[in-house]
Formats: sequence, structure tokens, C-alpha cells
Amino acid sequence: MEKILSYIESNKQRYLSELKDFLAIPSVSSQSNHNGDIQLCAQWVADHMKSIGMQNIRIMTTPGHPVVYSEWLGAPGAPTVLLYGHYDVQPVDPLNLWTSPPFEMTIRGENIFARGSADDKGQVFIHLKGIEAMMKHNGKLPVNIKMLIEGEEEIGSRNLEDFVKQNKELLKANLVLISDSSMYAKGVPSIAYGLRGLAYLEIEVTGPNRDLHSGTYGGAVHNPVQALSELIASLHDKNNKVNIPGFYNDVRQLTKVERAAYKKLPHSDKAYAKDLKVKELWGEKGFSTLERTWARPTLEVNGMWGGYIGEGAKTVLPSKAFAKISCRLVPDQKSGKISKLVVNHIKKIAPMSIDVNVILHHGGEAAITPIDSPGVKAAVAALEKGFGKKPLYQREGGSIPIVVQFKKLLGLDTVLLGFGLPDENAHSPDEHLNIDHFYGGIKTSVHFFNELPNYWNAKSKKKK
Ligand code: BES
Ligand code: ZN
Repeated sequence: MEKILSYIESNKQRYLSELKDFLAIPSVSSQSNHNGDIQLCAQWVADHMKSIGMQNIRIMTTPGHPVVYSEWLGAPGAPTVLLYGHYDVQPVDPLNLWTSPPFEMTIRGENIFARGSADDKGQVFIHLKGIEAMMKHNGKLPVNIKMLIEGEEEIGSRNLEDFVKQNKELLKANLVLISDSSMYAKGVPSIAYGLRGLAYLEIEVTGPNRDLHSGTYGGAVHNPVQALSELIASLHDKNNKVNIPGFYNDVRQLTKVERAAYKKLPHSDKAYAKDLKVKELWGEKGFSTLERTWARPTLEVNGMWGGYIGEGAKTVLPSKAFAKISCRLVPDQKSGKISKLVVNHIKKIAPMSIDVNVILHHGGEAAITPIDSPGVKAAVAALEKGFGKKPLYQREGGSIPIVVQFKKLLGLDTVLLGFGLPDENAHSPDEHLNIDHFYGGIKTSVHFFNELPNYWNAKSKKKK
């Protein structure tokens, strides 16, 4: 191990220059003008897998963006890790708020800036380098690895469920490892055991059949932007709870043990508010900030538009208004059920003065993963070695839709071993990854693969 770790030390500069190439490909999955870049990026991942010694590398087509698969199966008797990640990224706008161009990796201070640096190309790359270091030194790995790097995670992994169903044999493994989440805080490693689900929809409100002169018609018809604002404002009550009948019906309540554990975590609402430059925090009454963001469902407006938004003033009473709305979900809510509930509610409360049309986007289910599995034990040991501290356990507010499907379709539990940080601007301008976490991640990756067989054997011995 010593040799491998010092190899990592002496290759740090090369890692950065390779990562720069990976991050330079604008693999935005939601915008069709980037479809060519998605292909290029899949090819980059495949080529890189080849260069580090992975085998049976395949770029596998789906009805959407391709999945990149590879394997190394030279450790008979050792566990097989299905390593999942994604090479697609979120859109970069608003572009003018980036300090340096989103696809030109730039190091400022202690951070690596670029779209995808944290979510998730940087974290996928961490494992590529962990595998490379082990292969370089030993010519083999202590475990079997199957890598599954997809291109549609940021748009709800909509073709991955079918892909997994069609490739059950190929994806057979003992556990799933995902690095696509965050640590609790800088230098504070953590294992995540919960992710929220998602239901995403878009509302279109139509008023008059055309844009109108607001002087001639103002006062005669319901302005769609106003009507939509009224609708949206009614979706929360005075306790900041989602005001849709049935919304909380299936919510799994936090246990006393969890609430007590979250209270013990280092957290300051004041510092949190200060970091975000808000005078006070907001959210469902009766729950702490960690509880609200990790274990309670929410409803957010992601975007809202209509009427004139160009330079200067234009007096117009618009014909249409739009909003994109998402709900973050918790166990045991079901994405499809909540989508329907929200759509029906909006249609029911819409006034006669406007028409409402709702379309559904993607969704995904919330996940809770076990924390006593051999995989988690190996991850705990690896983090302790990679970051010099015992990890804590946390849930996360974001979503990785395939986690639940891996359990359902392949019977596999997931280890969520994130190296990002909650305030690294994922999905927003100036996304970055802490450089110490990047290198610490590579070391942790190596330790994880090295530790796993020990914990796995302990498990099978116990069973006997
Ligand atoms: N890396 C995130 C998921 C994540 C974020 C986990 C924060 C833990 C903490 C992932 O790439 C992501 O953003 N997923 C989408 C999924 C959605 C489009 C279905 C999300 O959460 O918005
Ligand atoms: Zn991600």
C-alpha cells in the first residue's frame, strides 16, 4: 500500500491535467445541442478505462444517452463491486455568473472549478485513478470491479432502469459503490445512508388567446402570471408545510434515534444563513434544518416565467405563464403518486379565469441504505485511512434515482461514499471540488478496494 500511496503523491499534477480534459467536454444531458459532446464524453470515459487496464469496455446504446461499461474480474473469490457514476452534467446557465468558463478547469485557492468537478465527473475520475494506481503497482486489484458510468443521471436516469433489467447478468455483483454525494463538511468524512426522491413537473397557465395592451385590457382579464403566482403561493401553508391534501400521507417519520443523532452533529443555523447571505432560514415548522433538508419532503419552484422580461419596460398583459416545480420526496412516498396528487390539486384549485396544463418530467424514489453492511464497514475503514478521521453518518437531500432500482432489480445494497461538499455549487455557477478531497478521495478509493475483501470474508465466515 505504501508504494501505491506514494505513487498517488507523485502523480498529482498529471491527475489534474487529465481531469482538465475530462471536464472540458460539455456533456450537458438535458440540452440536445450537446448530444455530440455526450458521445465524445462517453468515448473519453471508455478510452480512459482502457488506459488504466479495465477490460471488456463497451459503449452501450440506450434510447437516450449511452452507458459506458467496463470490468476487471481477475480476483476470483473476492467480492465484485458495481461502481456507478455519471459523466453527464447540468446546464451551465447563467453563464455570466461564472468566474472562469465552466468547461475550462481552473484552480483557485484550494478548489478545482468547472462544471462537473464535483457532480460527478471529478468523483468518477477519483475512482479511475484509484484503480489505475493499484493496477500500475500490483498488476491486479484486490476485488472485482464492474464500472457503469451513465449519461442521463441529471435527467432522471430515464433509460437506466430498462438497461439494468436487460443486463442483469452483466451487472451481477455483490454491492454497489457510488461517489456522487457530499461529505458532511470540509475534512469531515461521512457515509450517507439516505437520499431523497423527486417528482418534477411543469405548469403552463393560459389566459387570453394573445398578449394584450395592458392599458386597453388591464382590469378585464386575469393576468396569467398573477394567477400562476397565486396558485404557487397557495401551495404552502402558514407553517410552511406543503398545502396539498395527502402530500404527507406516506412520509416515513424520523425516528427518535435519528433526531437525537442529527442534533449532535456540528451545525449552526446562523453560520448556514450567513454563508447563503439570507437574514433568516425558512422551512417546515417543527423540524431542524438538517431534518428538513434530509428527511422531510418539500416543494420548490425551480423557475417561473412569462410576459416581458427584456430590457426596459413594455406594457403588456401576457397570454401565458410557466413554472417548473419539483418535490423532493422521502421514504415511503412514491414519485408517481405524488406527481398525480400535485397535478390534480393544481387543476382543482385553478380559477375559471385561466386554463392550466401540466406536464410531467422525470422522477425518482427516495433511498435508505443499510449502515451495517460489510461494504459500509470497509468504507468507514477506508475513509479513516484516507482522511485521518472516523466518518459520521448522514442523510442527503439530493437524489440518485438508480439506487432503489439496484436494490429492486439486482438485490444490491449501495455504499454512498461522497467526496464533494454541500456548498460546492453543484448545479449552479462556479461549481468546484476541494483539491484535498480530490486527492483524499483517490487514497480512500484505493483503501476501500484494499479493505473490502477483509470485511467481506468476515461476513461469509459469520454466515457459516
Ligand atoms: N450528485 C447529485 C445527487 C446528490 C446531490 C446527492 C446532493 C447527494 C447530495 C446528482 O447528480 C443529482 O443532482 N441528481 C439529481 C437527480 C434528479 C435529476 C432526478 C437531483 O438530485 O436533482
Ligand atoms: Zn451527480
